[in-house]
Parts: sequence; C-alpha cells; structure tokens
Amino acid sequence: MTPRPARRAARPDRPRPQGETLAVLKLLASSGADHTPVVLTSREVGDRLGVSQQAADRYLVALEGAGLVDRALAQRRQRLQLTPAAMELLRTEYHSYRRIFEGPATVAFSGDVTSGLGEGRYYLSQPGYVVQFTERLGYTPYPGTLNVRLAAPALRKAGLVATWSGIRIDGFQASGRTFGGATCFPARLRGRSCHLIHPDRSHYKDVVEFVAAERLRDSLHLKDGDRVEVSLAET
Ligand code: CDP
Repeated sequence: MTPRPARRAARPDRPRPQGETLAVLKLLASSGADHTPVVLTSREVGDRLGVSQQAADRYLVALEGAGLVDRALAQRRQRLQLTPAAMELLRTEYHSYRRIFEGPATVAFSGDVTSGLGEGRYYLSQPGYVVQFTERLGYTPYPGTLNVRLAAPALRKAGLVATWSGIRIDGFQASGRTFGGATCFPARLRGRSCHLIHPDRSHYKDVVEFVAAERLRDSLHLKDGDRVEVSLAET
C-alpha cells in the first residue's frame, strides 16, 4: 500500500445509478455506442425505452452532465457515445449480475516469490490498518506482505479482482499523511489460507501481495524465486 493524496471515493461508496440511467446506458451500449458514436434522435431513444421524447431528452442531457455520454448535436439528430465512466458503471452492473447468476468468481495462477522494499511491514504495522484487518479478515496479519511476481498471463488473471467484490479496507489519515485503501480477497497460496491485498493504487505493476496470520516464508519454507500456486475467490 502506498501513501498518496486523497482519491475519489472507493468503489463501495460510489452512488448507485438510477434505474433510468442504466436503462439508457444499456440501450446505447447495445446500439454500439460503447465503441463508436451512434446517431439517434431523442424520439428513437424514447421509443426504445418506452418513454416520451421529452423524457428521453432529459435523460440524455443528464447523462451528458454526469460525464457518462458524449453528445454532439447535429440538427435534430445527435451523435452519442458512452464515456469510459459509463462503461465502468455498466461493468460494475454486469459483475453484480454475474455474481448473482454464477456465484463468486474464482481464479488460479502461479508466480514467483520475491522481495520488496520492506514497505509491507511498515504499512501492516499501522494501527489504522491493523484494526481493520483484524476486524474484517478475522485475524491479525503478520506485519508484512509476501510478494509474488507474476508473468503476463497470470497478471491478467489476477487483474480480474479489480472488478470483483472483496473485503474493503478503508484509507485513513494518520501522522499527517494519507494511507490508501485496499480490497482483500480470500486466497490460498500453496494451500495456506491468506488474503490477496489489492491496493487502490499500487506502484508494483507485476507483483501481487498477500497477507496472512502467519509468516508464509516460514510456514511454507519459501525463498525468493520459489514458484507458488495461488487461488483467489470473490467474496
Ligand atoms: O521486504 P518486503 O517488502 O518483501 O517484505 P515485508 O512486507 O516488509 O515483509 C517482511 C518479510 O516477511 C518479507 O520477507 C515477506 O516476504 C515476509 N512475509 C511472509 O513470509 N508472510 C507474510 N504473511 C508476510 C510477510
């Protein structure tokens, strides 16, 4: 975890979109506006949504104001394209349905144990983190993180967690600095229970970090370069 300036609200704190917002975004995405501008009148949007032209127009203006739709007006028609923020919103929605219909996601990969800069110990010793870990993970982690370096295919798999629901650890201020938030996911590393900790912002691009009640290097006799199998689950 890296100290850093305050960022936008963490995932769970984001306001839930209204039903009509999602309905319009879904309609636009299905019309191709997820990847290219589509030309539609407010009447056409209204017809497909089953609302009046005026209502459709209001929705589109509001979505533009919220930074979810780029809108270029040309006479009575408009070119509409979804912004990355809108796609993120739809993706979150998609994942909540996937979670409902398919259950918690899991993924498995392997990587190599590696040493960091000794920062894990510093962060995991901060009372602001310790209290939350203890309460939310159900154990007090060994003060440090076990780093595992991943090759590109494993990194892609591990990257899926960015869209999963996990256990939130909130950022906080202490001693005049900001400590970032993170999301934890139940994991097994060589069969041992632990948690992958996914900082809201991380400077290690190809390394994932694990916390556990025990010092995993000791209990699993690990040294740098050892290959470990990891499995992760969504909560
Ligand atoms: O120096 P580095 O950033 O890798 O380590 P650290 O986060 O300060 O943790 C101290 C040491 O404990 C490192 O060797 C970690 O790999 C190890 N560790 C472990 O074996 N099991 C844990 N649950 C946490 C840390």
